[in-house]
Amino acid sequence: MAITVEQVQTCLKSIKGPDGTDLMASGHLSDIVVTGDKVFFSLTVDASAAPAWEAVRKTAEQAVKALPGVTSVLVALTAERKGGGAAPQPQTQGHNHGHSHGHSHGGPARAGGQNIPGVRNIIAVASGKGGVGKSTTAINLALGLRDLGLKVGVLDSDIYGPSIPRLLAIKEKPELIGERRLKPIEKFGLKVMSIGFLVEEETPMIWRGPMVMSAITQMLREVEWGDLDVIVVDMPPGTGDAQLTLAQQVPLAGAVIVSTPQDLALIDARRGIAMFGRVNVPVIGLVENMSYFLCPKCGERTEIFSHGGTRAEATRLNVPFLGEVPLEPSIRETSDAGLPIVATQPDSPFSKIYRDIAAKVRDALGASAPRQGPRIVIEK
Ligand SMILES: Nc1ncnc2c1ncn2[C@@H]1O[C@H](COP(=O)(O)OP(=O)(O)OP(=O)(O)O)[C@@H](O)[C@H]1O
Ligand SMILES: [Mg+2]
Repeated sequence: MAITVEQVQTCLKSIKGPDGTDLMASGHLSDIVVTGDKVFFSLTVDASAAPAWEAVRKTAEQAVKALPGVTSVLVALTAERKGGGAAPQPQTQGHNHGHSHGHSHGGPARAGGQNIPGVRNIIAVASGKGGVGKSTTAINLALGLRDLGLKVGVLDSDIYGPSIPRLLAIKEKPELIGERRLKPIEKFGLKVMSIGFLVEEETPMIWRGPMVMSAITQMLREVEWGDLDVIVVDMPPGTGDAQLTLAQQVPLAGAVIVSTPQDLALIDARRGIAMFGRVNVPVIGLVENMSYFLCPKCGERTEIFSHGGTRAEATRLNVPFLGEVPLEPSIRETSDAGLPIVATQPDSPFSKIYRDIAAKVRDALGASAPRQGPRIVIEK
């Protein structure tokens, strides 16, 4: 007998928060996710009220667990800060035993947030503007890093429009490990997590800033990533508060900025670079996507936009230029079919472009990533 969201809701109606309002009416409850016999939801409360809510969290967890058809429950309590400012900084570099730039177990200390145990580097793939090919770049870059022998995770932090499930054709839902941790989905040798795994595609996602943070923090910290050389984070488009907070909260080793060559996209890319600068995250470099068009019939190269703008911009801003990816039907088709080109057409010249970009990223991450690693078996 499968548990339904409605049954969970009925149960939560009988549980009251510290102010006496039931959980369904409290306004603190996230979407309720039910996968088979597992239930997941979170309560987002003001930081000052969090201690009072811990007992409620436990009660809710126990009550839902007692429902027939439920084997495990994860109720996360996430705190938000009043006033809409940036979320509080967790204990930065506090685990580094005094060497603020030394190497700890989890890898080098980073600009913001605490390291994730076992994860040596986290990099963001970002753009100022939407639709420039960030997610496509993130996935193919991740696969390129995999081909260099690194153990790679992918976190889709685009909670407004998660596209990684589609780009990798992942339909299944992540399993809960024990009571509180989610197991990433493995595909093409990557460990993958996306909010898109947890919510239905049709569910309109309306997130307030603090909820964005708690969702992303959970996806990063309550997921069993295991031992990874690098997690590639596909960022939501834009350079607003959500992105800034994210860049602050996640211990990023660096950011890869994707831009198309037009002036407008470049202006946004510049904003992206400035944003990472504000939170002391180094920019690993710029990628020019949809750089030029190679006619598949005649091989003629057409510079659709003013090709090369990104390289010039990189020089101007003194950040590395990582490469140019053409506007290429096979990239779009493989992406949209959930069969990313680097995984499914490794011999394509376009896959080589992504691998070259990946090599530059790996080099930028330095010693914390192995040069060559026979450590993973590449799944086909
Ligand atoms: N180099 C390329 N050649 C052809 N098509 C591409 C290329 N890069 C991306 N695309 C296509 O462009 C569309 C947008 O790409 P993608 O979803 O990666 O962009 P995005 O920046 O992540 O978008 P959003 O801002 O919505 O998250 C997709 O259909 C993708 O397949
Ligand atoms: Mg995207």
